Amino acid sequence: MSTQSLRKDHKLIEKVLQALDATIKLLKDGKQIPEEILSPTLDFTQNFTDVCHHGKEEEALFPALEKAGMPTTMGPIHMMLLDHKRTKEIAEHISLASKKYLENGDSAYLIETLELYVQHVTEHLWKENNRLFMMADARLNDATNEIDKNMDDIEERKLSELGKTRSHYESLVDELEKNVSEIN
Ligand SMILES: [Fe+2]
Ligand SMILES: [Fe+2]
Repeated sequence: MSTQSLRKDHKLIEKVLQALDATIKLLKDGKQIPEEILSPTLDFTQNFTDVCHHGKEEEALFPALEKAGMPTTMGPIHMMLLDHKRTKEIAEHISLASKKYLENGDSAYLIETLELYVQHVTEHLWKENNRLFMMADARLNDATNEIDKNMDDIEERKLSELGKTRSHYESLVDELEKNVSEIN
C-alpha cells in the first residue's frame, strides 16, 4: 500500500496530539509545563511533521497522484497543501507562545495556539486517512513499490539533513507521553 508509511507517521503524530491535549488541560488547571516538554514538542512539530512527513507527501505522494491524473492546483491535493502551510504557521505561533510562556508564565496564548494546532491537525489527518489516502491506494496500486522507495529515500534524506533519525522521534514521543503523564 503506497500510503502505509504515511499512515505510520500519522499514528506517531496522533500520539503527540494526545500529549498536547493533555498539556492543554494541565495549563488550564494552572500547572507548570517545563521546557523539557515544550522543546521536544517543537522539535517534533517543526521537524518531523513539517519537514519529514509533509516532505514525503509533497515530494512523493502528491506528484504520483498528479501523474495519475489528479490536479494539484485545485481539489483535494490543493486543500492538503493549504493545510500543510497552515500547520506550519500554527507551529510557528506555538514556538513564539512557548518562548513567552517560559519567560513570563502567561499561558493564555500558548493554550490558544495549542488548541488551534490540535484541532487543525486532527482534521487534516482525518481528511488524509479517510479521503485522500483511500483515493491514493485505489489509484496508485501499480506504482506502490516505486512510491514506497521514494518515501523511504525522502525520509532518510530529510532526517539526516536535520541531524536526526526516525528512532529519535519515536523515543521523543514515548518520552513526551511519559513526561506529560507525570505532571501533577
Ligand atoms: Fe498532510
Ligand atoms: Fe499526512
